[in-house]
Amino acid sequence: MTTELDSLADLETAALRDLNAATDARVLDEWRIAYLGRKGRLTQLLRTLPQLPIDQRREVGSRGNDLKQRLEQEHGRRLEVLEQRRIERVIESERLDVTLPGPPLSRGRLHPITQTTRDMLAIFTGMGFQVIEGPEVEWDRYNFEALRIPADHPARDMWDTLWIDHEVDGRRPMLMRTHTSPNQVRFMEQHEPPIRIVVPGKCYRFEATDATHEWMLTQIEGLAVDEGISLTDLKGTLADFARQMFGHDRRVTFRCSYFPFVEPGMEISIDCFLCRGAGCRTCHYGGWIEILGAGMVHPEILTNMGYDADRYTGFAFGVGIERIALLRYGVDDIRHFYANDLRFLSQF
Ligand code: DAH
Repeated sequence: MTTELDSLADLETAALRDLNAATDARVLDEWRIAYLGRKGRLTQLLRTLPQLPIDQRREVGSRGNDLKQRLEQEHGRRLEVLEQRRIERVIESERLDVTLPGPPLSRGRLHPITQTTRDMLAIFTGMGFQVIEGPEVEWDRYNFEALRIPADHPARDMWDTLWIDHEVDGRRPMLMRTHTSPNQVRFMEQHEPPIRIVVPGKCYRFEATDATHEWMLTQIEGLAVDEGISLTDLKGTLADFARQMFGHDRRVTFRCSYFPFVEPGMEISIDCFLCRGAGCRTCHYGGWIEILGAGMVHPEILTNMGYDADRYTGFAFGVGIERIALLRYGVDDIRHFYANDLRFLSQF
């Protein structure tokens, strides 16, 4: 009897030792087969029971069954431990540190000219103007002819203009528009007064560039036509615009100027934002900085549009947005705006 019980005790020690040494599910399964399987060591041992004398059979039998139960339990526990460890390993290896800073997001921003355009349009729409747009590639007729700039006019100098197609064999000449004024004509052709529009857009000129000239520029054209519109409306509208844009204490001056499509024509200046009118380099010691051209729509144009020029009058203006942006941001060279240098652009 002692031999069988000793064998059981040895088997228990060996089984528990091997079980603890099993570090993965495969080894654990091999262990189960080796001890508890049909040909396993414990099973084999229990099979010898019938050969034992009857009095030993019971004790060895019950100890053997206890051991079998215990090993099964231990096996289950070990399985759980190993599974737990496996899960922990997976969690550890897939761990995310949510407190780490994320990859930096590079934020886009609006181009300073876009920002300035939007702010200017907001002022004009606040006064009741409607925003419309027109083509950048324009017929000669709209860009010049209908605006009373005939072929022999100095402004027609072809070096000032980027032509798409010259007048050849009766084809109509086509160009990159040099200003937004053609939209006055385009709109009046299609609409009856009252009219209040502003037209933002890019314009192009054949130009040697310098600190205040670019071959591409952005303008806003304005046009108001109605019964009883006078120079006072023009002055009030543009003075109000200048103050909303540059501050309420700004002084605004109107001076005579000439544009073929208005009569009278004028240019509007504000007191220099640096010297406040005293005279400095920025304002070329004049104290004033010109910001836009304007005038009363030439009656001949109104008549050409089929309007009754005795009944209707109107004013028009054109403003270069880059010029406004230069003043507003204190930028000293217009060429910065389109050089696409992020060191410059990211400041706005
Ligand atoms: N179109 C002119 C330019 O490009 C600006 C201008 C002046 C527009 C007078 C107007 C105006 O509507 O009345 O320089």
